[in-house]
Amino acid sequence: MQASDTPAAGAPDARPFLFSGIQPSGDVHIGNYCGAIRNWVHLLDRYRSIYCIVDYHAMTSEYDPAIMQERIFQAAVANIAAGLDPERCWLFVQSQIPEHTELAWILNTITPMGLLGRMTQFKEKSRRQEENINVGLFSYPVLQAADILLYRAEAVPVGEDQVQHIEFTRDLARKFNLRFEPLFPEPEAIVPKSGARILGLDGKAKMSKSLGNHVGLLESPEQIWEKLRPAVTDENRKRRSDPGNPLICNIYTIHECFSPPELQEEVATGCREAGIGCIDCKKKLFEQMMRTLDPIRERAESLRAAPDEVRGFLEQSALECRRMATATMGEVRRRTGLR
Ligand code: AMP
Ligand code: TRP
Repeated sequence: MQASDTPAAGAPDARPFLFSGIQPSGDVHIGNYCGAIRNWVHLLDRYRSIYCIVDYHAMTSEYDPAIMQERIFQAAVANIAAGLDPERCWLFVQSQIPEHTELAWILNTITPMGLLGRMTQFKEKSRRQEENINVGLFSYPVLQAADILLYRAEAVPVGEDQVQHIEFTRDLARKFNLRFEPLFPEPEAIVPKSGARILGLDGKAKMSKSLGNHVGLLESPEQIWEKLRPAVTDENRKRRSDPGNPLICNIYTIHECFSPPELQEEVATGCREAGIGCIDCKKKLFEQMMRTLDPIRERAESLRAAPDEVRGFLEQSALECRRMATATMGEVRRRTGLR
């Protein structure tokens, strides 16, 4: 997509900018799809959409440098296959645009430490990676704010876990605008009504690339069923004859993303009245998931067979987005008294 692309020939593109990111820290999973990517695809028409594979963010947790590039490539494949159409958005790799870290530094200087210490994700990750509580992990939300503000994006579609970081970004935008000549809009988080927080297969922790509790978006039908079959449901429902509660069942939450409303209704009622067992409910879910995931998996196969096209899209996007980033940095430098 060109920065100057117009919705109708001759008219300037007045749509607001949207930004979101995904870490190349492992397989893209159905939590990412339900909480974020599905929404990204829906929003392509309404916004000038910029998507980013955030490799700098991924470096704040343990990772293997030897497979970083492969993970970036696979993340690009999964996202394009899921619907990030190269004709309608940009998708680039964060470290290709150095202005992200440049703006992050400047934002660091107006960020109170106390605000960062309150971030839930920092606290959780610090618990999980006790041996590696690095400064990058602490200032992670500042880099995230820089990602968004660099493009003066107004909308940020994310899952529930990121809402606090978007609130933080709004705070920083406000602080910058007060301290210097105003520049940044305060971006809004867009969170889906259902699927904003998918749990892992253990039904406890959030589904996550690094916890090994996920269902990969591109896994084979056999692999997916193997994972779905034993997945935790409403734990109070011990026997087939016990009534269950769909509202505390992760499988039902996933139904809400993949199944049509009539089927959601049918399994919810069936569950409450013990009319349907968990395995049958999972079989129905599996069928619905395959309707969405089969074509995504097939597209991913063709994209893997054309790596130059995938890389070409990433590079072209970086080139075009960098122009916008440079323009914003010019404004930032002028306002902050730098040359
Ligand atoms: P990440 O994999 O942490 O880079 O997340 C990429 C996007 O997926 C973000 O918008 C997250 O909020 C969203 N996301 C990640 N995990 C989940 C989950 N378990 N449920 C819903 N959304 C999620
Ligand atoms: N922190 C986000 C996550 O873990 C990824 C991310 C980085 C992001 N920069 C962003 C999301 C900017 C939205 C906007 O999911």
